[in-house]
Amino acid sequence: MPNPSNSAHPSSEQTFEAVASRRLARRTILQGGLALGLVSALPAAAGRVGAASAASATPGTDEIGAASGGPAGPLSFVPIAPMSNDTVVVPPGYRAEVVIAWGDPLFHGDGPFRLDRLSPAAQARRVGFNADFVQFLPLPRFDQRIIGERALLWNNHEYTDAALMFPDLDPATYPTREQTDVELAAHGATVVEVRRTGGTWKPVVGSRYNRRITATTPIRISGPAAADARVGPTVQGMLNNCGGGLTPWGTILTAEENFNQYFANNGAVTDPATKAAHARYGLPSGASERGWERHHPRFDLAQNPNEAFRFGWIVEVDPYDPGSTPVKRTALGRFKHEAATCRPTADRRVAVYSGDDERFECLYKFVSTGRISSSPGRNRGLLDDGTLYAARFDADGTGTWLPLVFGPDLAAAGFTSQADVLIRTREAAAALGATKMDRPEDVEASPVTGKVYMACTNNTQRGTSGRPGTDAANPRVGNRWGHVIEITEAGDDAGATAFNWEILLLCGDPADPTTYFAGYDKSQVSPVACPDNLSFDSDGNLWIATDGAPSAWGGIFSPAPNDAIHALPVEGAERGRTRQFLSGPIGCEVAALLVADEDRLVLASIQHPGEGSTLASPTSTWPGRVPRSAVVAVTPTGWTRPARPGRAGG
Ligand code: FEO
Ligand code: CA
Ligand code: CA
Repeated sequence: MPNPSNSAHPSSEQTFEAVASRRLARRTILQGGLALGLVSALPAAAGRVGAASAASATPGTDEIGAASGGPAGPLSFVPIAPMSNDTVVVPPGYRAEVVIAWGDPLFHGDGPFRLDRLSPAAQARRVGFNADFVQFLPLPRFDQRIIGERALLWNNHEYTDAALMFPDLDPATYPTREQTDVELAAHGATVVEVRRTGGTWKPVVGSRYNRRITATTPIRISGPAAADARVGPTVQGMLNNCGGGLTPWGTILTAEENFNQYFANNGAVTDPATKAAHARYGLPSGASERGWERHHPRFDLAQNPNEAFRFGWIVEVDPYDPGSTPVKRTALGRFKHEAATCRPTADRRVAVYSGDDERFECLYKFVSTGRISSSPGRNRGLLDDGTLYAARFDADGTGTWLPLVFGPDLAAAGFTSQADVLIRTREAAAALGATKMDRPEDVEASPVTGKVYMACTNNTQRGTSGRPGTDAANPRVGNRWGHVIEITEAGDDAGATAFNWEILLLCGDPADPTTYFAGYDKSQVSPVACPDNLSFDSDGNLWIATDGAPSAWGGIFSPAPNDAIHALPVEGAERGRTRQFLSGPIGCEVAALLVADEDRLVLASIQHPGEGSTLASPTSTWPGRVPRSAVVAVTPTGWTRPARPGRAGG
C-alpha cells in the first residue's frame, strides 16, 4: 500500500503489519447486488423530517434521495437519514448481523445467555458488558489469507450498567457482593474465534483461543513506572477499557479510560501529594459511583491509596495465547486513554497516538527507542522504552510534540523522576504547555496519505465562565458537536517532533454557521455530531462513529437521532462530504468501528442500548427482548468472497 510512512519497511518482511497492509490492498469493485454508483445527496433539512419516518423492525433502510457523481468504491452506498429507530439501520444493499452480544457463551458446557443465571463465575466465562474497541485478527497468526473464513475477534468491555444487568436490582442494597463481582467479571475484554458460514460471522464456542480478561485477571506492570513503589509490579485486572489499537507485531493495545469512577474516599488520603495526584484525575473525595469499595478494600483509597496508580494505562495483550499475562505499559503514560493507534516511523520505530478523553486534556504520542523487529518475540519490550510527547497546537497551523522527559524543567515543576512524570502525565503535559483540547478521542492515520486524524468529541464548557477560552485548534465556544483535526507530521514521519494541522470538520447542524465540512457544500452532507471513533478504508476514506449525538441534537432534530456511523473522503473534490452509513438503536453509542474492506465488512460495537433506563422499563429492546450491547458485522447483501488460488482452511 502507498503508505509513505512505511516506505522504509521492507515489503518482504512477514511482519503482522505487512500482512495487514496486504489485506487492505485496494479494491474498487463492488460485488453483486449493490446499488452501484448511486450516491445520495442529503438535504440539510432531511433529518428534521426524516428522523421519525424510517421505522424498521430489522436492519433496514431509509433512503433519502439520490444523485449522481459520487465516488465508486466503499462510499458508493446510499446514505441514510439521521433516525431514532430502535434498531441498527444500514443502507440499501447492506445487512447488519450480531456477531457477539453480552452474555454469549464462549466455552463448551455453557448454555445460552439467561439474565436469571448471572453469577460471577458464569459472567467470567461469557462475553462481557458494553462492547467497545473491536479488532479482527487473522487465523492463524501471519496467515496471508487474513479474514478468510476464520478470524479472532477482540472486543473491549468498557464498563457496566447495573440497571440493565440485574432484574432484581434493589437500590437499597445495591451493590451486593455478588453484584459487585458480576460487574468485575463483566469488565475487561473478550477474545473469541469467529467463523463465516453462509456469509455470516458467528463465534466458535469452545475454540482454544477463546478467553476472557476481567477486572481481576493478574496483570504485569512494566516500563519506567513499574519500579515506583506506588505502581508495580502487578495488579488485578484492567478497568474501563475503551478504545485500543493493533501493534505492527500483532498484539492488542487496550486503553484504560475513566478509571476514576471505581475509586472512593480520596478525601481520607493522608499524604497530600497522593491526594493531589488523585484529585487531578477526578477521583472522588467520598464514595465512588459504584460502591465497590464496600466489598473490595482495594477500591477504597483510605485503605489503599496507591491502587488507583495502577490504572489509566495502556495494556498490551497477545490475543493468540490465552495463557499469556497482559502487561500494562507505563512508558505510554497514565491518563484517560481513549485508544492507542500504532504507526511505524520512517526509521521503523513505532509511534503510538493516544487521546486523553476529558475536557481540556491533551493528545499524546509515544515513540519507541528501539526498532520494530520482523521477529515478533523481539518486540515484547518495545513499548517499555521510548519518549512520550504531548501536542501543542499553535495558531499558525504548526504544532510541536513536547517531550515529557524528566529534567530540570519538570524537576522545577515538582516532579521527582521519569516514573513520576509518567504517573502524573497530565500535570507534566500542562507544565510544558500542551494544548488543552475538546476531549481528544480516537486517532487514525490514512493508509493512503499518512495524514493523521483526531476526533475531539465535544466540550460544552469551552469558553464558559471560569473555563479556558477558545484557541485555534478548539475554536468554538460551548462546543456541543465536536470536531476533527487533520495532522500532517513533518516529513510525513510518525517519529517527527513537529507537525502541521488544520481543521477538517466542525461537526453539527449543517445549517448552523459555525459548522464546517472541509469547505464542501453543506447542503450535500449528512449531519454528524460527537465524533468518537475513527477508521479508514483502504481507499483512504475516513469513517466516524459517534457517541452522544442524541443529546447534542436536542432542540435541532425532533426526535433526536441516535448515534451513527458516517464516512467521508478526506482528499479530492468530495473532501468533507459526510455520508451516514449506520444508525444505532435507542440509547446506544457506536463505541467502535473497524472497516475491513477487502471483505466489504464494517464491524461496529453497539454499546449500551437503552442506557438511562431499567430492565423493568427499557427504552430499547435491541437486539431482542432485553437490551444487550453487541458487536455487529455489516456486509453487502449477496456479497461473496472472490475466489483466490491456493486458499485453504487455516
Ligand atoms: Fe470511552 Fe472516550 O469514550
Ligand atoms: Ca479507531
Ligand atoms: Ca470512546
